[in-house]
Amino acid sequence: MSRNLVFITGGSSGIGLALARTVPFDDVQIYDISRRGSDDFDHIAADLANPESWDVLGEFFVQQIQGYAGERVVFVHCAGTLDPIGFAGEVSASAYKRNVLLNSAAPQVLGDAFLDAAHRTRAQCHLLMLSSGAATHAYEGWSSYCAGKAAVNQWVSTAGAEQVLRGNHCRVLAVAPGIVATAMQAEIRNTPADRFPQVARFKEMYEHGQLRDPETVAREIWALLDRDLPNGAFVDLREPTA
Ligand SMILES: NC(=O)c1ccc[n+]([C@@H]2O[C@H](COP(=O)([O-])OP(=O)(O)OC[C@H]3O[C@@H](n4cnc5c(N)ncnc54)[C@H](OP(=O)(O)O)[C@@H]3O)[C@@H](O)[C@H]2O)c1
Repeated sequence: MSRNLVFITGGSSGIGLALARTVPFDDVQIYDISRRGSDDFDHIAADLANPESWDVLGEFFVQQIQGYAGERVVFVHCAGTLDPIGFAGEVSASAYKRNVLLNSAAPQVLGDAFLDAAHRTRAQCHLLMLSSGAATHAYEGWSSYCAGKAAVNQWVSTAGAEQVLRGNHCRVLAVAPGIVATAMQAEIRNTPADRFPQVARFKEMYEHGQLRDPETVAREIWALLDRDLPNGAFVDLREPTA
């Protein structure tokens, strides 16, 4: 048995993959939960826009965490999508529904499943959810993404307050990583302005080399585990205090 157990959704790409590569614990079992997986980590194949996958993952959490006698269990929920970028009422209804399921519903259902499993171990437990500046700022063309990230912040804030009342067994945090050089940013830059009017600003940041390096961001996220942050906090890594 490893001393640390780490579950990362979206560990196949971008920030999730960078998190898997920079895990700061020596003795660790890492699971990537995504559709594609990566060559380097144990992969649980799941389409998290499909609600049936949530039950499967919930059962996997229980199976792995029940009676776990290591030091630490961490769940980082990174999986997210911008697709379909475009105004509400003008994009594919089925793609919009998948976006809502992945960005708004999956974090809550998987967060609930993880906290249920976390009751079953004495190890210290951490739940981190990737949020965004889009949680508090409207970007035309990203309505369901913005709503999903706002939901993440509110879920984390409430579940964190509940954990305080239950003796802080699991610490729950939401993290906005800033503008990070991943496939998601490439997708933004490739979107026409009539579907995403603020695209010019993102192209300009890219051209000026202002995108953040995923592994630097990942190390900053791991460092949050050692910080004395209130349970349920929303941390924006771009803020000087972060
Ligand atoms: N990059 C940024 O500037 C930025 C800024 C703010 C917040 N964020 C947040 O950071 C997180 C990671 O984004 P990223 O930039 O690293 O994007 P990315 O490179 O596009 O990675 C997205 C990850 O989500 C997974 N994913 C997408 N749809 C999925 C599905 N239906 N089922 C399971 N997994 C799915 C993908 O895995 P598969 O395709 O293999 O399934 C992939 O590993 C997201 O929550 C995003 O909202 C990113």
